[in-house]
Amino acid sequence: MRAVVVEQYAPIDQIGLKEIAVPEPAPGQIRVRVQAASIGFVDGLKVEGRYQTKDPLPFTPGAEFAGVVDAVAGNVAGITQGMRVMGAARSGALAEYIIVPPEAVEVMPDALSMEAGAAFRTNYLTALYALGERGRLRAGEQLLVLGAAGGTGVAAIQIGKLLGARVIAAASTDEKREFARSFGADAVVDYTKSDWRDALKEATGGHGPDVIFDPVGGEVSVQAFRSIAWNGRHVVVGFAAGSIPALPFNLPLLKGGLLIGVDVAQIARREPDAQTRVMAQLSAWLNDGRLVPVVGKVFSLEDFRAAFTTMQTRAALGKMVVRIAE
Ligand SMILES: NC(=O)c1ccc[n+]([C@@H]2O[C@H](COP(=O)([O-])OP(=O)(O)OC[C@H]3O[C@@H](n4cnc5c(N)ncnc54)[C@H](OP(=O)(O)O)[C@@H]3O)[C@@H](O)[C@H]2O)c1
Repeated sequence: MRAVVVEQYAPIDQIGLKEIAVPEPAPGQIRVRVQAASIGFVDGLKVEGRYQTKDPLPFTPGAEFAGVVDAVAGNVAGITQGMRVMGAARSGALAEYIIVPPEAVEVMPDALSMEAGAAFRTNYLTALYALGERGRLRAGEQLLVLGAAGGTGVAAIQIGKLLGARVIAAASTDEKREFARSFGADAVVDYTKSDWRDALKEATGGHGPDVIFDPVGGEVSVQAFRSIAWNGRHVVVGFAAGSIPALPFNLPLLKGGLLIGVDVAQIARREPDAQTRVMAQLSAWLNDGRLVPVVGKVFSLEDFRAAFTTMQTRAALGKMVVRIAE
């Protein structure tokens, strides 16, 4: 089978596509013929060996996928050959086949495309856990989404609207702000402008955002917190801008505000009930068609490097997806 193989940690332009053996599932495992895989921020760091945990070499990157179950080894309840599934693994998705335990996948709604299935899990789990469970976003409140045209950002716009909030999207270009509007943002601001807090104040009718979804970090995070409404909740999701901001402690005091961290990688272990609740709500929205995961750009497997570089150069709109097979 064809697979992207990282033999040495290196920038993506030095990583190749190889022909390797199709893996065999051990008893209790399933094999999925991958049709689409999506690229996340963390995948880029892992390829270069810059993530907090290193995958042992050689490895195939890619954590999210959608495809068709191709083999089931031993007794696996609920999963049969030929099922359309979407799932997540630590790595291995940028290949024609992946081996996973059955709990790593869920059955895809019929109406969902393979690309949308591959783009679903991390971003939407993050957005609903962050906004619903941690940020306690309520209908009628105002939500500010930073990095709103990015993968988690656009998911937060859609989830914010489904929770009944008014959504203000912050992004760096006209194209990105238009993209955010097309997925439901009620207002947009250009947070690269020095006076963007004035625009935010106007966009919230002078109230300030009740909840801030923040996958960006850097100075913009501190500026956003300065604008938060009384009793506001600032949810820390990531640091795409590359620097970790330091918040002066007087600001939460003055605002009655909360700074709340989110790490979806830990919730299955630490808060299994929350994970079950969030996944059940997401599945309900997917099945009744109220939620359709946003697919940014789709690349061929031969072109996988471009999927990474588009994301890494701040050029991406939504999640980057690699189509692996028809
Ligand atoms: N905590 C969690 O559980 C969790 C879950 C998923 C992701 N994350 C993290 O969240 C962050 C964002 O993930 P994502 O998938 O949304 O990424 P993404 O699709 O690349 O979007 C990130 C956004 O950040 C903005 N940005 C600002 N400065 C940037 C810079 N120097 N380089 C790149 N982007 C910059 C960009 O929007 P503008 O151009 O409009 O500024 C971009 O659209 C990452 O750090 C990721 O690891 C955390």
